[in-house]
Amino acid sequence: MQAYRASLLRFDAAGQPVYDEDGLLVVGPDEAGRQRVIDAGPHGAVAARHPDVAVTHWPGRIIAPGFVDMHIHFPQTDIIGAPSAGLLPWLENYTFPAEGRFSEPAHAAEVAEVFFDELMRNGVTTSLTFATSHPQSVQAFFESAQRRGLRMISGKVLQDRHSPDGVRDKTEQSLIDTEALIRQWHDVDRLGYAITPRFAPTSTDAQLRGAGELAAKYPDTWIHSHVAENKDEVKWARELFPGARSYLDVYTGFGLMRERAVYAHCIHFDDTDRLLMRETGTAAAVSPTSNLFLGSGFFDFEGADRIGCEYGLASDVGGGTSFSPFRTMLAAYYVGREGQTKPGLSIPPSQLWWRHTGGAAHALGLEGVIGNLQPGCEADFLVLNPKATPLLARKIERANNLEELLFSMIVLGDDRLVERTVISQAPSA
Ligand code: GUN
Ligand code: ZN
Repeated sequence: MQAYRASLLRFDAAGQPVYDEDGLLVVGPDEAGRQRVIDAGPHGAVAARHPDVAVTHWPGRIIAPGFVDMHIHFPQTDIIGAPSAGLLPWLENYTFPAEGRFSEPAHAAEVAEVFFDELMRNGVTTSLTFATSHPQSVQAFFESAQRRGLRMISGKVLQDRHSPDGVRDKTEQSLIDTEALIRQWHDVDRLGYAITPRFAPTSTDAQLRGAGELAAKYPDTWIHSHVAENKDEVKWARELFPGARSYLDVYTGFGLMRERAVYAHCIHFDDTDRLLMRETGTAAAVSPTSNLFLGSGFFDFEGADRIGCEYGLASDVGGGTSFSPFRTMLAAYYVGREGQTKPGLSIPPSQLWWRHTGGAAHALGLEGVIGNLQPGCEADFLVLNPKATPLLARKIERANNLEELLFSMIVLGDDRLVERTVISQAPSA
């Protein structure tokens, strides 16, 4: 066993923050050799329960759960900040050409390393991640994640129409490849597979149907796609699927809405769509830096809360402009102002934080596994230095309560706050 002493941030079962100014986190290995939280709480009480444990003391630091990014594209690492009129030209001019290069295993492997280094520097310990349509890109991703001992989810992108040469796949082969990758990687070590149709406009009915069949055959895999991000995209989807009630409804028809299904964006929704999300246990990945950057629109946080939809925060790099969860949380705060009808804060700081840790884990069906530091959780955690910059140091001194402390970090923080990222499982050689 091993213990860490510092300020300690966790969340209770209702998603409310629990903060010990002088806290102690005790971890120990499970049968699989992963460090799990054994005990956590105020230093005095927890230390008394574990008198012999070795303690590492980090004065002035905050131990917090690793962040969970609910939607990101590892092959888009190099196209962050690509200027475009909107989603569809951005895909055509930057995204598809960049993704075409992932047929080369060496390129995929090189970018995967850069991607994971960037996640670790920014304190993201789990992500639900698009690869490309090339199985090689998935191999590169999982091989690197496995070596690093990370809990990561990814899958081969399915896109058998309306896509250029170089990224377009073939219907039957794409489904054979998907099933082979599920068998090779799903639930191996800390890895999980996501069945990943890019979005309805780039898949034929046959491909979507096949994806839904695989989703039924492997019910604990994830489903990962995009929906209702951009008005031109919505119009296109409606033209292609005239029988569906809405764009979201297309996915229901193919068996692609269930628990562990995650759709990025979910902006241009009505309440019937929101109810469908709730009733099927499907989650939204909210990507405010991407939505602001591409001019897609504003996620309706009040609408999602009113209906009771599952959602969590996501960077959506490379449409998103930062790997940093601090930048994503701040953008979510701004977007929460849009259409706000209730007086007061947009979204309280501790709720922004929960939506990027424990709440995101809940939306992924991984509550009690990641995103929190309660007993039993895998010990993926961060050591934050809340005085990492001169301005932060001044602000932190003046914080009167936990919400002000968290908000100072959300507004002023970035990767400089993350002093260490500690992973539950040791890397393999
Ligand atoms: N819709 C379909 N593909 C993509 C993508 O790569 N990024 C975003 N933001 N939206 C998409
Ligand atoms: Zn995306």
